[in-house]
Amino acid sequence: MNPLDIDAVRGDFPILHKPLPKGLPLVYLDSGSSAQKPQCVIDKEREVYENYYANAYRGVYRFGSIVDEELEGAREKIRQFINAEHSEEIVFTAGCTMSLNLVASGWGKRNLKAGDEIILNEMEHHANLVPWQQLALQTGATCRFLPLTEDGRLDMDRIGEVLSDKTKVLAVTGMSNVLGTINPIAELAKKAHDAGAIIVVDGAQSVPHEQTDVVASEIDFLTFSGHKLYGPSGIGVLYGKRELLEQTDPMLFGGHMIDRVYKDHSTWAPSPAKFEAGTIQIAQAIALGSAIDYMTTLGMESVHAHERDVLEYAYTRLQEIPGMRIYGPGIEHRGAITSFTIDGAHPEDLAQLLDRKGVFVRHGHHCTMPLHDLLGVSATVRASFGVYNSRGDVDALMDAIQFACQRLRLT
Ligand code: ALA
Repeated sequence: MNPLDIDAVRGDFPILHKPLPKGLPLVYLDSGSSAQKPQCVIDKEREVYENYYANAYRGVYRFGSIVDEELEGAREKIRQFINAEHSEEIVFTAGCTMSLNLVASGWGKRNLKAGDEIILNEMEHHANLVPWQQLALQTGATCRFLPLTEDGRLDMDRIGEVLSDKTKVLAVTGMSNVLGTINPIAELAKKAHDAGAIIVVDGAQSVPHEQTDVVASEIDFLTFSGHKLYGPSGIGVLYGKRELLEQTDPMLFGGHMIDRVYKDHSTWAPSPAKFEAGTIQIAQAIALGSAIDYMTTLGMESVHAHERDVLEYAYTRLQEIPGMRIYGPGIEHRGAITSFTIDGAHPEDLAQLLDRKGVFVRHGHHCTMPLHDLLGVSATVRASFGVYNSRGDVDALMDAIQFACQRLRLT
């Protein structure tokens, strides 16, 4: 494993070199919301529009063929990146939220009935919670919650309280977008399978930060977004095991997804076309392939090691602040996210004061209201780190927090 050359990586992201008003350098600590884009991704989208743009899977003319080849090339890169077995297991969607809705609606409605159970937990993002609640309402199934430990991990000792032969789905995040908790996916998959259930993994936060292997971890469905993986917004991925996608109904109906249309009924094309109705996000999907090339060239092990170093430094330094409360487990169980509150400071005030120093963080409930209810706070401030962040960014965060605390008269 080669250590990341952080200066070279930072050089790949043009936005990091554009000073903010008053000449402040940008300290971007919100990659958990959406990551910045390397030049190669920006160039690839532009290349499509400037050189060979056409609709996908429709034209035999030159540009149509190039677009089809590029799209299938991107699909293949995604397949390799997550170690899926077949390219038809990779479906382009509009994002992680759409992917999760597609599984809950397309697989869930067909396979769940009254009396069945869905296992969730309180650290899930609303995108991996609300679609399952809706499915439960529509089918008569029940959502059960695997308890969390005091420090914000799944309480694996208590899984027997919720997992049973009634369980049909275990839906879980690979990494919490608030606590940073990295969940034991392979172990959960084994337990779910032993109970006769499937596992659905929300990989929005985990896929950009660590190597994902759907075969080794025995993941049934994996969802993630392009925009958190340094790719364009508007494009996401659904991975599903081939036989499970065969048992999944489409959510959108229209062009390209059909096999044969009659006046009174229609039949569907096989996956992935079955799930890609209409004109997909052509340039975005192609440029997602470039984002994956970029990450593969850096090496996911190197990315992970670098982010761990920044995380460890941040986790240690943040504790120097009086009144600091960091939510979630110790660093051995977390990825590159720290959510915190400071006694006496409202998270929104803090985020606004950090912005004055050019430090961009997210504040609020981060689309995890049940988790914030459990934590007993309405909001937190979140610093989330990406491949381009350095220890210097953590120092800038610390200086900005000290400035904010002075302004709020906390020191
Ligand atoms: N899901 C994204 C986040 O956690 C938007 O910020």
